Amino acid sequence: MSDVRDPLAVAPIVERLVVIGLGLIGGSFAKGLRESGACREVVGFDLDVRSRELAVELGVVDRCADSLEAACQGADVIQLAVPILAMERLLEQLARLDLGQAVLTDVGSAKGNVVRRAEQVFGRMPGRFVPGHPIAGSEQSGVTAADGKLFRRHKVILTPLAHTEPQALELVHQLWVTLGAHVEHMEVAHHDEVLAATSHLPHLLAFGLVDSLARRHENLEIFRYAAGGFRDFTRIAGSDPVMWHDIFLANREAVLHTLDDFRADLDALREAVDQRDGHRLLGVFTRARAAREHFSKILARRAYVDVMHSKDLIFTAQPGGSLSGHLRVPGDKSISHRSIMLGSLAEGTTEVEGFLEGEDALATLQAFRDMGVVIEGPQQGRVTVHGVGLHGLKAPAGPLYMGNSGTSMRLLSGLLAAQPFDTVLTGDASLSKRPMNRVAKPLREMGASIDTAPEGRPPLTIHGGQPLKGMHYEMPMASAQVKSCLLLAGLYAQGATSVTEPAPTRDHTERMLRGFGYPVKVDGSTVTVEPGHKLHATRIEVPADISSAAFFMVAASIAEGSDITLEHVGINPTRIGVIEILRLMGADISLANQREVGGEPVADIRVRAAKLRGIDIPEALVPLAIDEFPVLFIAAACAEGRTTLRGAEELRVKESDRIQVMADGLATLGIQAQPTPDGIVIEGGALGSGEVWAHGDHRIAMSFSVAALRARGAIRIHDCANVATSFPNFLALAQRAGMRVQTEGDA
Ligand code: S3P
Repeated sequence: MSDVRDPLAVAPIVERLVVIGLGLIGGSFAKGLRESGACREVVGFDLDVRSRELAVELGVVDRCADSLEAACQGADVIQLAVPILAMERLLEQLARLDLGQAVLTDVGSAKGNVVRRAEQVFGRMPGRFVPGHPIAGSEQSGVTAADGKLFRRHKVILTPLAHTEPQALELVHQLWVTLGAHVEHMEVAHHDEVLAATSHLPHLLAFGLVDSLARRHENLEIFRYAAGGFRDFTRIAGSDPVMWHDIFLANREAVLHTLDDFRADLDALREAVDQRDGHRLLGVFTRARAAREHFSKILARRAYVDVMHSKDLIFTAQPGGSLSGHLRVPGDKSISHRSIMLGSLAEGTTEVEGFLEGEDALATLQAFRDMGVVIEGPQQGRVTVHGVGLHGLKAPAGPLYMGNSGTSMRLLSGLLAAQPFDTVLTGDASLSKRPMNRVAKPLREMGASIDTAPEGRPPLTIHGGQPLKGMHYEMPMASAQVKSCLLLAGLYAQGATSVTEPAPTRDHTERMLRGFGYPVKVDGSTVTVEPGHKLHATRIEVPADISSAAFFMVAASIAEGSDITLEHVGINPTRIGVIEILRLMGADISLANQREVGGEPVADIRVRAAKLRGIDIPEALVPLAIDEFPVLFIAAACAEGRTTLRGAEELRVKESDRIQVMADGLATLGIQAQPTPDGIVIEGGALGSGEVWAHGDHRIAMSFSVAALRARGAIRIHDCANVATSFPNFLALAQRAGMRVQTEGDA
């Protein structure tokens, strides 16, 4: 008998653990806990004598009892790990025994039947019975396959009832945690529904399809030509038939429910094929593909939500280097968002090229898919949007998740306020802290009904079916998001909606509305739209994002010997503050090949290294460079003399408080940076090295990567996962251009 104790063994939390049923799951549970040292004694029982002998020989248990009664004597915890239908008889037998104060738990794949049976045989579900279900398994079975590590990083669902004793629940929870499992709690009925849909239905379909094809007389022919799709779809038809027969009988109600829903959807697909309704098919397939990609990310624990909360993605930027070559940065984020929004509301099919495949724009894309719009792609920046017209959106099935994207949430709230259905807009931790009253208040003045969390934070609950009235709004802050939100609401309002801005902000919404044939009146600083027109599908070519290009403009300016050309960059006059500010600081920037694509001016931008000097940044340029300040602060740190920024309090409510977060990072690197309520004062100097935090803000992460070009040592930048929101291939492009930045661990 082996006596393997895990070196990280824990102090015993259970005197005697009894495991009934020594198959793969029961055996692994027993073995893992025995190895952990969490139980002073592990006793096994199985009806099969050979399994009992093997369990002792293989060190799965300390000893085996030769009857159920003997096994349960003096037990502190009893784990029921028998096949799901055998559970019913086992419970009956247990009810006749004196179990003392033992905590009961089980591993059945359905929970309703276990609870019902326990209620019958015990008279009431015992308070010390904690139903459970580990989502783990393997193609192998039996005690010989028992593996103490089987549950590591697997989910275990516990389904306590209202009267389950908290200490019993805590103990069972602890045992699974000791085995390395991630434990979640769920209601019994919910568990059974979720499992019926995600596990039981797919198994039923796989068994059913293989059997159906195999019974046809031409079956040999079919299987001979069976391609990868057949193999992949039917892999699970190789599972244990007896076990699955048990599961379907045990979880009958929930399986029937999900099967009926699916049958209705299958009928709809049949009808679409019958009617040659390609549009409907494309809708189902594109939604399914997007959902599948999303699930794969979650399954691989790569989803951005997950990365943000659980994993600190660190960039390390080595000092020195210079930049050269021709680069094309990804598509403009603001224009990408709007291409999906207006394309969806248009009549006809809009083709988009150069779409930014970053998480922010993808959040907008997903939201419109959730509202029934068929969107193909993105594939290498190409997206095809099958517009549904201004009144064609459908109620989404659940909340719309906007991730990190303020633009998605603010622009959509204007549009959604005018829809006949209700919506809830949620976001990640950073977005959940950002102010939404700036849109909620004026929208309410137009007649919208919007609830926010305290202090005007997300989530936003928008009650549909409210008639909106056009109005004139004097915007208190220079915000293109607020302006665009109100213009979108204005498309549906009664009468004209006009917005006056205190300073020019990006005008992509106005330009694109016109591109879709929708009239927009611009009179000085006031924009007006009226209802009653339509958007007509068009072709959109998204230029490269000047906000992403800005990192390379500063990088090439500060790194001696650099000479780069950034191709096809959008140079909309409302966005070129970064070029003007850098030129005022002495940068060597020239524009070539200026042209207009789809209503937006573009150019190739050449940047050569230059000696920069500190300046007082003209306040008029602030809204025109609002997203570029983090990297401009790096330029200021490398400039000779003092740079002063004023009138930029908006920076405090971006993806992070960009004034404070940049000041902190610069101070760490030895630069004097004095934050003020609405700006910062930076003294140019020598950049040192050290650890800085991006606080989940993409632009902060990229800015400090640029800083390393002039630093004395390496800069480690924490919390960089959100670079993927606006510039998913930043590291690859930066390395290609000559920067020495990489993800930590990717040496
Ligand atoms: C954006 C407007 C700006 C900008 C944001 C994108 C847009 O925000 O910072 O990254 O696409 O309309 P504000 O309108 O809040 O200034």
